[in-house]
Amino acid sequence: MDRRRFIIFGTAGSVAVLTGCGGSGGGAAEAPTPSMGPAPPPASPPASNPPPPAAVSPLTAGQPLADLVRLANTSTTPNVFAGTLVARRANKVMLPGTSTEFWTYNSSVPGPLIEVYEGDTVRIRLENQLSQETTVHWHGLPVPPDQDGNPMDPVAPGATRLYEFTLPVGSAGTYWYHPHPHEFTAEQVFRGMAGLFIVRSRTDPVPSAIEERLLVVSDLRLAADGTIPPNSAMDWQNGREGNYLLVNGQHQPMLSIDPGQSQRWRILNATNARYLRLALTGHTLTLIGTDGGLLDAPLPGLDEILLAPAERVEFVVTAGLSSPASAVLQSLPYDRGGMGMMGFSNTTIPLLTLSHSTATRAAVALPSMLRPLTDLGLPTTSKRLVFSSGMGMGMGGGMMSFLIDGKSFDPTRVDLRSRRDEIEQWTIENRSSMDHPFHLHGTQFQVVSRTRRGVTIAEPFVAWRDTVNVAAFETVTFKVVQRHLGKRMYHCHILEHESRGMMGVLEVVA
Ligand code: C2O
Ligand code: CU
Ligand code: CU
Repeated sequence: MDRRRFIIFGTAGSVAVLTGCGGSGGGAAEAPTPSMGPAPPPASPPASNPPPPAAVSPLTAGQPLADLVRLANTSTTPNVFAGTLVARRANKVMLPGTSTEFWTYNSSVPGPLIEVYEGDTVRIRLENQLSQETTVHWHGLPVPPDQDGNPMDPVAPGATRLYEFTLPVGSAGTYWYHPHPHEFTAEQVFRGMAGLFIVRSRTDPVPSAIEERLLVVSDLRLAADGTIPPNSAMDWQNGREGNYLLVNGQHQPMLSIDPGQSQRWRILNATNARYLRLALTGHTLTLIGTDGGLLDAPLPGLDEILLAPAERVEFVVTAGLSSPASAVLQSLPYDRGGMGMMGFSNTTIPLLTLSHSTATRAAVALPSMLRPLTDLGLPTTSKRLVFSSGMGMGMGGGMMSFLIDGKSFDPTRVDLRSRRDEIEQWTIENRSSMDHPFHLHGTQFQVVSRTRRGVTIAEPFVAWRDTVNVAAFETVTFKVVQRHLGKRMYHCHILEHESRGMMGVLEVVA
């Protein structure tokens, strides 16, 4: 079977590298977010002068990394965050002479950053101006099921709903939000709907002198006419990959850092199906956090970090005092298996370039302990799930379908039951020849071990995760507790697989 190939990265001949935009010199002030088509809703009045520079396509490499647009807090009550997300179409110029229609939150790609503190109550109104149903799912957050944007709770076109939840102390971490309607999740996300959601701690142990950078990686496929084409049959099978990997909506931007400076990077993999094997040339990385927040202690000296779709990571990067003129954050080749997929994710892709300024910074040390992170304890019950693939019926025939326990998703069925507050051990066995990132809603889990070819490796450190890659023919075991009653989704986070039924319903009962 042949397939269309869109794996053309770094079209060096066609992009102009901007000069004279050396960024902020490493200070706290970043360049303002460049306008990308229609302006986001007014959070503050725009400066009256000077006139905005001529629009530069976000696909032009080498521009200073944009700050994320921030969702304004309209609440005046302390400890309450209130805001509005409008799901709507927005047009932006990506390729010269064309216009690209995205589906967005508040016309922003990626969606606006939501930033709250532990203990806050969050009230977010969703206005659905799309022509199909949608929901907002708070990926990884411990919110009640009826506030979590399940596919069983759609918001119809033209309708509005309020999501409300309170985030417990201890939930500080790097989360995200995205649509979760029945069968349309993959398309709504690849057309632009996904945003970062940070829960901060008022007692964050990472020194504030270690400046933070937020990086949202998304995957855009553009046709020559500037449109975002629908999924092909192969995309539905393998998961969609695009022809531009974007960071904060920009292609290969430039992030400035001073010699000797340490920065804390939070990275979200908001792609439908792209595995990011992250490495920074000439540097090692110090892992400090995963999906659900900080580790108990920093883990220095890593050469690379694999970030499957939907995963997040926090690490610290320290620029050398005599660093080369530039270092590149790149995604190294990764073989995630699958049908005739040689080449998918199998090239090195630059994500962004570091630009070193001349001002030297003194090193800032990380504390040796970040926060106490205790093991969940001894499980009192266990569950086992099997990922498999089989030849699908219908749909043109010959296409693989991806199943959990031999079944395809049915929103009216309950597949598993758990008792609230019970410590469970879950084992996910992947009997297919392709990697699948497993995700469970409403809580964070602790991976215990991974087994490949009969060899079991205990997880070397305790970490909170809500998504874990289960490689082809691998088995992963984790411990988990659910704290809210109601129905939770679990699924593969290759969104094409999720939207085509690689998903189940867990009911949490008293
Ligand atoms: Cu990222 Cu079911 O979600
Ligand atoms: Cu989720
Ligand atoms: Cu999958």
